[in-house]
Amino acid sequence: MAFAVPRNLAEHAERRGRLEWIATLPAVIEKLQGLWSLEVGEPFQPGGQTAWVAPASSPHSGEVVLKVAYRHYEAFDEAKGLRAWDGEGTVKLLAAEDLDDTTTALLLERCRPGTLLSSQPDTTQDAVISGLLRRLWRPPPFSEEFRSLQEMCDQWADECRQKIAGHTATTDAGLLRDGIALFRSLPATADRHVLLCTDLHADNVLAAEREPWLVIDPKPYVGDPTYDALQHLLNCEDRLEADPAGLVSRIADLCALDPARLGQWLFARCAVESPDWPELLDVARQLARSVGL
Ligand SMILES: Nc1ncnc2c1ncn2[C@@H]1O[C@H](COP(=O)(O)OP(=O)(O)O)[C@@H](O)[C@H]1O
Ligand SMILES: [Mg+2]
Repeated sequence: MAFAVPRNLAEHAERRGRLEWIATLPAVIEKLQGLWSLEVGEPFQPGGQTAWVAPASSPHSGEVVLKVAYRHYEAFDEAKGLRAWDGEGTVKLLAAEDLDDTTTALLLERCRPGTLLSSQPDTTQDAVISGLLRRLWRPPPFSEEFRSLQEMCDQWADECRQKIAGHTATTDAGLLRDGIALFRSLPATADRHVLLCTDLHADNVLAAEREPWLVIDPKPYVGDPTYDALQHLLNCEDRLEADPAGLVSRIADLCALDPARLGQWLFARCAVESPDWPELLDVARQLARSVGL
């Protein structure tokens, strides 16, 4: 049978010029089948954007999941993070192997039935995500080194500057400048630094048996917990565009975070993401008005 590539991965690989990497996958998966004694099934559809993920089984570990991922910058420490959380709110990591500079493989606990949290109503999503975030935030373990949120924010701010160089409409120049500056400065003013997931949204939370919902696909960093609520806010596109301040206030309350600080973070992140997602400029404008930025 032809080698199956999940829809989201195929589309993203085409856009990002990663088709050569996709072509290496059949040989990589064959190697992993031998290494971890796996029977591998067809990949999950539509899947994520950066990894080939499929159900698998092995005589030692039973029903598991094989994730073969492109090693992009934010995801470098996924295995380390899963080891640190050790199944407390996340899937358990059973094995990990960096195959080369661009490919990493993870063997994971399988979530059954694996339904995405994004299939549930907004109120359920908000409650589950905030409950999981509050459990995941913990002092970074001494045994493992994680990168700082400051490092990630500086990198994203630099990339945003490059993208807007030369073609910013004058009306938005001040807003963008303020947003980028805030994105660089907020990490240093946090009142506590914890282990962060940074990519917790309702497509990265799956229905399971060991716990009702488990987190997959973390991109761990250490820093301000307020930052960690942002990805869920950005994924709630309709609510975000209609009433960003209302959404901030609701999620800050559920996560026991300072709403003013969450509003600042959202304003800054919307500015930084706006070159690739122009609707976020309007969200940033609304926030600037309502929280007095
Ligand atoms: N532990 C797991 N149990 C069951 N299904 C999983 C598991 N991990 C991932 N999946 C499935 O694979 C898809 C892609 O996984 P994900 O880790 O989010 O990839 P990406 O890093 O590309 O976003 C998920 O949407 C889900 O359907
Ligand atoms: Mg994902």
